[in-house]
Amino acid sequence: MAKIGIFYGSTEGNTENVAEMIAGALGDADLHDVDSSSAEDVQQYDQLIFGCPTWEIGELQEDWETFIDVLDDVDFSGKKVAYFGLGDAQGYPDTFVDALGIIHERLKDKGASFVGFWPTDEYEYDASKGEINGKFLGLVIDEDNEPDLTEDRVKRWTDQLKNEF
Ligand SMILES: Cc1cc2nc3c(=O)[nH]c(=O)nc-3n(C[C@H](O)[C@H](O)[C@H](O)COP(=O)(O)O)c2cc1C
Repeated sequence: MAKIGIFYGSTEGNTENVAEMIAGALGDADLHDVDSSSAEDVQQYDQLIFGCPTWEIGELQEDWETFIDVLDDVDFSGKKVAYFGLGDAQGYPDTFVDALGIIHERLKDKGASFVGFWPTDEYEYDASKGEINGKFLGLVIDEDNEPDLTEDRVKRWTDQLKNEF
């Protein structure tokens, strides 16, 4: 078993593609689609990465709507958690990557420590629940407007994670 578990939900495939890029860059990581993942699947990893796009104007991706309740049965003490989120800053500037904040609100008091915070300055948007203390909760990818930046962003973030995990 790899040391890192990556759990993602994806309706149109963008988040799945980014999850695969992250796994490739980290080397030692297992990929799980949240539509078929259990609490036991999550429990086995000490290092976790959760990936979710924002859908329906500020909502979780549909498979995450169920999976977020599955996470209630995980004991997060001692685990390290990182997030990545996909969104569309031009189409949805007021709810940009809100899903990150929705997930963190459910996980923040469960005993995990959180890594992988990411600067906001290279993105243009108006409001985001994915922000905390002036940083994004995790890697932010915008495949709708800035797909050419994705590879570099994944590289920089996974380099950062290698130090923080
Ligand atoms: C109907 C609809 C609603 C969306 N709502 C948001 C939103 O509120 N905030 C945001 O940042 N992105 C929003 N998006 C953009 C998606 O998050 C983005 O296209 C993402 O790459 C989709 O990921 P997926 O292919 O893994 O499903 C929305 C897209 C659609 C089509």
